Amino acid sequence: MIARHRNMPFGQRMDNYIQRVEKKLAEILAHENSAPALLQEAMSYAVFGAGKRIRPLLSYASGELLGLKGTAIDAIAASIELVHAYSLVHDDLPAMDNDDLRRGRAATHREFDEAVAILAGDALQTLAFYCLTSDPELCKQTQTQTKIIHWLARAAGPSGMVGGQALDISVEGKQINETLLKDIHKRKTGELIRAAIMMPTELTKLNAQEKHSLDKFAQNIGLAFQIRDDLLEVEEDTATLGKSAESDKKQLKATYPSTLGIEEARQRLNEVYSLALDALQIFGDSSESLIELSEFIISRKK
Ligand code: IPE
Ligand code: IPE
Ligand code: MG
Ligand code: MG
Repeated sequence: MIARHRNMPFGQRMDNYIQRVEKKLAEILAHENSAPALLQEAMSYAVFGAGKRIRPLLSYASGELLGLKGTAIDAIAASIELVHAYSLVHDDLPAMDNDDLRRGRAATHREFDEAVAILAGDALQTLAFYCLTSDPELCKQTQTQTKIIHWLARAAGPSGMVGGQALDISVEGKQINETLLKDIHKRKTGELIRAAIMMPTELTKLNAQEKHSLDKFAQNIGLAFQIRDDLLEVEEDTATLGKSAESDKKQLKATYPSTLGIEEARQRLNEVYSLALDALQIFGDSSESLIELSEFIISRKK
């Protein structure tokens, strides 16, 4: 495997990737300039908050592992962030988690109104697929493009994120077992993260063992991300998080801390993190950025 991009320190590479994806997102949003002004405004608002851009960064880091340049990853990175941004808008709606604060400011339905927020979410989701289907490079390789779209559609859809959100709501107020909780977390959060890491593999030829290992990493770090998110609500305050530190408690959500207790939840996070890192071993130095991002995911404060 070719390890490129090593001439810059990790932090600088990540800053560059954030700039890349934000430029691509701005281009995609500007392209839809015939959208009604208020809808357009709400879409931009939802996308350009203080997000960490973790999913795009994972796509670029996966691209590094595969020896791919940033230009090859831009459309994938933007598409995953568009689906993520949409998921946050809908997740915060009164009928869902009923949260007024997101990324340190008013949730989209509070800044605008519920109808505009619902439509902005819908529009961001379709824009993600527009982004992948209008990318000139991907359009030159339609079979690859279809496989990439398949990853995203599967991850976002009824057996992935939306299915996970449905289960998450259906078990509010109930004590559930860890097997079900893990399934919910893998779907509602893990699948999009998995797709962010796996979509770039369609642009190269990985052997079956390498693909299996990267997928094992992707699934475990996706689960780790949501366990950390659950723990953050118990460990940090609203000002630090930029979103409510009371949300899970108020909605009686099934979380790792509420199901297993804080100590065991922390232990589970470490176990899942170890499984993720073990799976990267066969890639050697080329997984450096994925390892750094994983460390960030499990130790982050927001
Ligand atoms: C929050 O995701 C929603 C979850 C899946 C837990 P992030 O923590 O990545 O949110 P932003 O994009 O940085 O705001
Ligand atoms: C929701 O998980 C994940 C999605 C948005 C799909 P949470 O409800 O825990 O996410 P936050 O805490 O609101 O960001
Ligand atoms: Mg929520
Ligand atoms: Mg949460």
